[in-house]
Amino acid sequence: MSARHFLTLLDLSADELAYLIQRGITIKNRLKTQGPTYTPLANRTLAMIFEKSSTRTRVSFETAMTQFGGHALFLSPRDTQLGRGEPIADTSRVLSEMVDAVMIRTFSHEGLETFAAASSVPVINALTDDYHPCQLLADVMTWTECRGSVAGKTAVWIGDGNNMCHSWINAALRFGFNLRICCPEGYDPRADIVEAAGERVTILRDPVEACTGADLITTDVWASMGQEEEQAKRERDFDGFQVTEALLDRANADALFLHCLPAHRGEEISETLLEDPRAVVWQEAGNRLHAQKALIEFLLLGKVD
Ligand code: CP
Ligand code: NVA
Repeated sequence: MSARHFLTLLDLSADELAYLIQRGITIKNRLKTQGPTYTPLANRTLAMIFEKSSTRTRVSFETAMTQFGGHALFLSPRDTQLGRGEPIADTSRVLSEMVDAVMIRTFSHEGLETFAAASSVPVINALTDDYHPCQLLADVMTWTECRGSVAGKTAVWIGDGNNMCHSWINAALRFGFNLRICCPEGYDPRADIVEAAGERVTILRDPVEACTGADLITTDVWASMGQEEEQAKRERDFDGFQVTEALLDRANADALFLHCLPAHRGEEISETLLEDPRAVVWQEAGNRLHAQKALIEFLLLGKVD
């Protein structure tokens, strides 16, 4: 059987994704009550290629492999042959001979697809310019833990139509919730990704209108990795799109706030938003570990319960 890859959420069915969310919660609860005693990946190796910076993604994948009894290998272009021009597909074929799975954080989504096409072991997207599906596993897991089933609920994305926004769109489609996207003109998500989600997704311009009656609000930095030179222009263009406590007050009384982090206080969020009890961002960050354990286990061993 050829390897299953996780390049976007759409690589898995709705049933498989629902399984991963519940499995992440089970794995988390077992860790909290029994400690890291579950070691299904003894002697297995995950190669982690990072062409962009990371705190949460690196630590969560590395810790997941350690707690599962396996090993994670950090690789950067600076000190591998990738940085000296060895073709992506050649690197992929070599790693397939040695490791059990590969996780990649890179710029070009097409480059990731090239790598995956040449790989005979599972490849996981740990963020590209276009998608960040692993983050959405943790985000939907957090929303589910806090509020139960997300089907039919309404989430709001405020800010840039970026990689995170694209994965929120895919999540709306697969998990069956509604997504209002509120971006300034010129920063909409990709039209083909929006269209694929059909009636699940609407685009609005007014943050107050978007947040009224919502169940969850989320945002992200205005300038993503690789867009640092646009920071000043983006700060001007996103004026009026900051998420504040007052904006959350327009949402439902039990609404939650998520942010993938890192956050820029005073830009996309107010200085104090992360201290608001509606913000569950630390739980969200911690859930990267548990949700990705469920993902790695699924890709390597299949469903286990
Ligand atoms: N949210 C997220 O992916 O964080 P890192 O960039 O720190 O991995
Ligand atoms: N949109 C952000 C997400 C960081 C986790 C970026 O790509 O930099």
